[in-house]
Amino acid sequence: MSPDPAIIERTGWLRAELARHEHAYYVLDAPTIPDAEYDRLYRELEDIETTWPELASPDSPTRRVGGKPLAQFRAVRHRVPMLSIRTETDTEESGAFAFDARVRRELGFDESDPAVEYAAELKFDGLAMSLRYEHGVLVQAATRGDGETGEDVTANVRTVRAIPLRLPGDAPPVLEVRGEIYMRRDDFDTLNASQMAAGEKVFVNPRNAAAGSIRQLDPGIAARRPLRFFAYGLGEVDGWDLPATHAGVLDALAAHGLPVCEHRAVLVGAAGLAQFHTRMGALRASLAFDIDGVVYKVNALALQRQLGFVTREPRWAVAHKYPAQEAVTRLRGIEVQVGRTGAVTPVARLEPIFVGGVTVTNATLHNQDEIDRKDVRIGDWVVVRRAGDVIPEIVGPVVDRREHDLPRFDLLASLPLRDGLPACPVCGSHVVRGEDEAVARCTGGLYCPAQRKQALLHFAGRRAMDIEGLGDKLVEQLVDAAIVKTPVDIYRLGILALANLERMGEKSAQNLLAAIDSSRNTTLSRFIFALGIRNVGEATARDLALHFGSLDAVMAADADRLQQVPDVGPVVAKCIVDFFAEAHNREVIEQLRAAGVRWEEGAPAPIAAGAHAGKTFVLTGTLPTMTRDEAKALIESHGGKVAGSVSKKTDYVVAGADAGSKLAKAESLGIDIIDEAGLLALLDRGD
Ligand code: IVH
Repeated sequence: MSPDPAIIERTGWLRAELARHEHAYYVLDAPTIPDAEYDRLYRELEDIETTWPELASPDSPTRRVGGKPLAQFRAVRHRVPMLSIRTETDTEESGAFAFDARVRRELGFDESDPAVEYAAELKFDGLAMSLRYEHGVLVQAATRGDGETGEDVTANVRTVRAIPLRLPGDAPPVLEVRGEIYMRRDDFDTLNASQMAAGEKVFVNPRNAAAGSIRQLDPGIAARRPLRFFAYGLGEVDGWDLPATHAGVLDALAAHGLPVCEHRAVLVGAAGLAQFHTRMGALRASLAFDIDGVVYKVNALALQRQLGFVTREPRWAVAHKYPAQEAVTRLRGIEVQVGRTGAVTPVARLEPIFVGGVTVTNATLHNQDEIDRKDVRIGDWVVVRRAGDVIPEIVGPVVDRREHDLPRFDLLASLPLRDGLPACPVCGSHVVRGEDEAVARCTGGLYCPAQRKQALLHFAGRRAMDIEGLGDKLVEQLVDAAIVKTPVDIYRLGILALANLERMGEKSAQNLLAAIDSSRNTTLSRFIFALGIRNVGEATARDLALHFGSLDAVMAADADRLQQVPDVGPVVAKCIVDFFAEAHNREVIEQLRAAGVRWEEGAPAPIAAGAHAGKTFVLTGTLPTMTRDEAKALIESHGGKVAGSVSKKTDYVVAGADAGSKLAKAESLGIDIIDEAGLLALLDRGD
């Protein structure tokens, strides 16, 4: 039995439809249907092809991956050689003028002749590929090789979904498309992460990843590599009316469904080229893929023929480079820096190297995991990358150049010791790294100079000690002038020291002193929050205060006891234990007490006793940070009541996300509606 005409028609429709969506997704970057819908159409086509094997066709979207691993690649002789382009190494705009001058000279032009028209495009950093379409069907893909003979990588290239297996509409008998196979940076990062997770080799850069993927003998592996393609020219062509210009060729290729990069232009004269070079240079860092320059081509094909070739390079094209974003240099050492949040980060000290337009001597290594993942060791030759204004980073070591075995770097072991434990190189407080944390941190949050400004700003913040007027400008000045080192110093400030600061008259100095003075009387939860213990936000500080009732009890609690507090798990508990274990922090707390800072302590007594006595609250929807039980406990601890439904007796409705009928009812009754922040403010104020 053979398939009826409706099935045959459906098969053709499904193939065209799937190809259209692939084009929209991979070429136009504008998906036309949801993934699930695409998958449904794909499965339908697969089912038909299984039921009716006679309908199978090599250009079907279901046949991108197929075939067995090869023993080796077959050699392919290019019918039109694959040339290379001359490179203009002068990365300044004079490079564009030099090329234009050369072209004009070769054409025998003098000043009276018109400006030459050029097509300008990007120079993609991938690998050259020749795609051969016969009557619209992709029949062969070959690498450049030596330009005369390349390798047949058709099975791998068929897996690249930006490359059509069949050109829609009318296609010439022979159309060879030349272009670049490349990998986007985001896809490269994802690929490397999964290679890492699978214990497989990681790639140094997208170009190596693309080249390595194309050279896979198993197309099944190539299929899992996120490769892309941009067309930039032609090889052998038969039965096609050539457009008159290179720009016209690219437009025609795009119209045939081939991916052509949108960043191209037709320009006139050297100044136009120079502008393009500058414009694309500014865009470079934000592109999804790497480029190493731009390419200028004489636009008129007739002029191209007139200009011809020198050895293997056309006279009508040039690559105008940008400063390299990557370079190789030696890793002299790894030093440790302490950031504003106490993060202890390794910084690479490099043999100075010119990369990305500047001389780089330092690069970030992020954290220990990153060092382990990249396996960089002091003494290695390393690839350094600087894209745009981005901080330089170490891409990885050039392992082949490691002359002898070098020891691995251990961040914690490189730190100075205090009581036999790793200590902060800035302040000597202990450094710890949580089990699930990538980053090691200094625990001397209240004391460490590296964390000073951040810690002081947090301490004085509105939800913490609430010292009005002590903002970032002032903290900046006080710390830079070494007037304030720890929070205690705030309480020792005098009118003289303050009045001498920039933009601070006697009146504002007095106001600030008054604000500082009134902050001396606070609540336990505010005080705990003000300490800036890592992972202890306002809600946790409040829970700790309610649960323990006194600071001494919190400080004495071990991790187990801390975990009895709602929402305190092992990570938060460890942060609290580490913080109070640090003698420097305890000292600062003692000094704060001595400086007259007081907080209300005692059992979970209502903090603003009676202020909300008898007030009825109704909770509805999901609050951003509190569970319903927590909110209820909090309201009750302030003397309020929580009811299940809204009535005329309700005082406040606390509404979160997706609040429903209770909210509507509250609105209709004119009851005060507040959100979580409003609730906290209300309870804090005690009004
Ligand atoms: S045209 C006859 N255009 O650069 C000119 N090449 O040496 C043939 N490349 O590896 C090349 N972007 O793969 C041309 N927009 C572009 C290009 C480009 C990258 C690569 C090409 C080859 C090298 C040329």
